Amino acid sequence: MILIVDFGSQYNQLIARRVRENHVYCQIEPPDISIDAIKALDPEGIILSGGPASIYSKGAPRVDRGIFNLGIPVLGICYGLHYMIDSLDGNVIGSQKREYGFAELLIKKQKGMFAGVSKKTQCWMSHGDSIGKLPSGFTATASTANTSIAAAEDIKRKFYALQFHPEVVHTKEGKKMLANFLFNICRCKKSWSMKSFINDAVEEIRRQVGSEKVILGLSGGVDSSVAAVLLNKAIGKQLTCVFVDNGVLRENEAERVIEMFSKHLRINLRFARSGKIFLKRLKGVTDPEKKRKIIGRTFIEVFDKEAQKIKGVRFLAQGTLYPDLIESRSAFGGPSAVIKSHHNVGGLPKKMNLKLVEPLKHLFKDEVRLLGKELGLADDVVWRQPFPGPGLAVRIIGEVTPRRLAVLRQADTILLEEIRAQHLYYKLWQSFAVLLPIKSVGVMGDQRTYENILAIRAVTSDDAMTADWAQLPHDILARISNRIINEVRGVNRVVYDISSKPPSTIEWE
Ligand code: XMP
Repeated sequence: MILIVDFGSQYNQLIARRVRENHVYCQIEPPDISIDAIKALDPEGIILSGGPASIYSKGAPRVDRGIFNLGIPVLGICYGLHYMIDSLDGNVIGSQKREYGFAELLIKKQKGMFAGVSKKTQCWMSHGDSIGKLPSGFTATASTANTSIAAAEDIKRKFYALQFHPEVVHTKEGKKMLANFLFNICRCKKSWSMKSFINDAVEEIRRQVGSEKVILGLSGGVDSSVAAVLLNKAIGKQLTCVFVDNGVLRENEAERVIEMFSKHLRINLRFARSGKIFLKRLKGVTDPEKKRKIIGRTFIEVFDKEAQKIKGVRFLAQGTLYPDLIESRSAFGGPSAVIKSHHNVGGLPKKMNLKLVEPLKHLFKDEVRLLGKELGLADDVVWRQPFPGPGLAVRIIGEVTPRRLAVLRQADTILLEEIRAQHLYYKLWQSFAVLLPIKSVGVMGDQRTYENILAIRAVTSDDAMTADWAQLPHDILARISNRIINEVRGVNRVVYDISSKPPSTIEWE
């Protein structure tokens, strides 16, 4: 494995992704990790990430210097490089000017990190400080017009330092450089795969829960579905999944989950049909945050009640992913503004006095999908578009009523039918309909109509952090619009949302 020390760079998850794409396992750890903990991980190499701090600023993050005595390769990137140079006997000079953006990298020797890399290649810079004096044993291996030492190495001790970011796509041959580090320098083996993960995970789950009972909130989305199947493989009937119908699900959603998990996969499933209570509490509520909070709270209540019916549950399983884990313990992120309070099961373990089982907590989303496939889950589950916890309630702007829900469900079904028919479903990150609380005038069969407006939202994205509106072909948009206006009573106008995230968000509320 490779240890990545997290100095707070916005790119460090990307470093981890790049390593794992090479089938090498890696873990991101905060800089206060002890040297004994590092030894216990027994890494083949260490990558020191970039970060926003300047090495000489107060409170600049540092990791135990003992890493340089372990006899394993160390790669420092940007701030990681500054830390390395400063910890050894070199020095870093602060600069008023930031170098940010593309630069042409001139490579001195096409060896080591740069084996097989072009002599002139594009790299991505983002730094203030730079190297003043190299530590003894180091030689400079590359430069750019603004930075005389853009890369350096000490071959004997296997220390490598890059001022630019090899992990971002703007560094054209960055992947090659990282692969050189992994395989030529650290001598890693390509042993990380979802097949190997399953065996370890099954063993780990069994060790953690013993003969105790585990409960899991199944939403039908990728993460909880994959977690359910993995746990089922590990502990079978000790697992009970709870599916809560909150009354704001898509058409046939509940039936689909029951069919798949209970009938097909034979997983213990409790089905809480609780739509009525959710809708009752949502009555008259129009504020988006209020809606989200009501649904979150009610979910916890219903789930808790279901759990009480199963005697002796000790564990709560969740489909937490690696980015959540990294972000939740980041010492650098700080509290960010609450844009939307996400509905999740965050309040559950404390309330129910349960211990957590999080078998996916070291995986990225794309790895979870591969795992799901490996475990035999259908494409329809593995590649399902995300659906928010508060469901259609945040896609009905204004009050959620049974009538408005019925209108949105019908429109949403038509939209998805068309998107699937055109083989666009898996190409889009999300595609859905939003019902607006605005009426407009129309004409249908010589009659005046005064009905609702429905918005179509379709976006492409890699991670939901940013998203672009999808440039759907006009004939498909026309077909969707025609069908919705003709088939859904209560809608006489369809509009297409052409906003990206940021500054908009994917969901409307
Ligand atoms: P926004 O609207 O913030 O959404 O751009 C980003 C992604 O998160 C999904 N989403 C949620 N998922 N619980 C969830 O599990 C929620 O409360 C929630 N709210 C939004 C949204 O569909 C998009 O994929």
